Amino acid sequence: MRILRAKDYDDMSRKAANIIAAQVQLKPDCVLGLATGSTPIGTYKNLVAAYEAGDLDFSEVKSYNLDEYRGLPGDHDQSYRYFMNVNLFDHVNIDKANTHVPDGLMEDYEAACAEYDAAVAAAGHQDLQLLGIGNNGHIGFNEPCDSFIKGTHCVDLTESTIQANSRLFDSIDDVPRQAYTMGIGTIMGAKMILVIANGDAKAQAVHDMCYGPVVPSCPASILQLHPNVVVVADEAALALCPAE
Ligand code: PGA
Repeated sequence: MRILRAKDYDDMSRKAANIIAAQVQLKPDCVLGLATGSTPIGTYKNLVAAYEAGDLDFSEVKSYNLDEYRGLPGDHDQSYRYFMNVNLFDHVNIDKANTHVPDGLMEDYEAACAEYDAAVAAAGHQDLQLLGIGNNGHIGFNEPCDSFIKGTHCVDLTESTIQANSRLFDSIDDVPRQAYTMGIGTIMGAKMILVIANGDAKAQAVHDMCYGPVVPSCPASILQLHPNVVVVADEAALALCPAE
């Protein structure tokens, strides 16, 4: 794992966007694995600015998002499809037909999750997978549990995640209790993984991801086994990591 230290959120966002921009410039028809949450918003803003400056062309890019709340339609303002449209897709020249987010309303979800994995594989896997990390060490919605789950699947969200995400809903009762997420195997299939983290609430999770044992109780720790991971984190998120 390579750890790039950022001064603050803006610095993290710029550094992360530069890495994604380089990927798009070097391989215009690349496959991006994309993430939602508060952390990547600044990264996407920088990508939009680079597009507007004429430095990026998304016309051949394909994207696969990590996760989606079960039961939310794509036009719900807390769905991750909506988030992606508002924060990135509506502002760049990506073909929406090439953007993929698990369907929160899928009926036969086991078949649909298997199809999602098959589509990622058929696209050649993610050239670059962007990840945030949960306070509890989750990646995507792979929550701490007893085993690493390989493929895209339906998960029960933990109380800690429901609590963390309730800030975006009118009330905690409105937060969906389940979600669909790429599995650990789907994520690990990416050729390169870019993890972004900021703020002291992430410090323990970032430490455990980089230096803890590889255990499913900290799903992000599996990234230690991937050959090409870059972590871009600010000083607060790196507070418990050795200063190398
Ligand atoms: P956040 O979420 O960016 O909103 O902190 C990260 C995550 O849960 O993966």
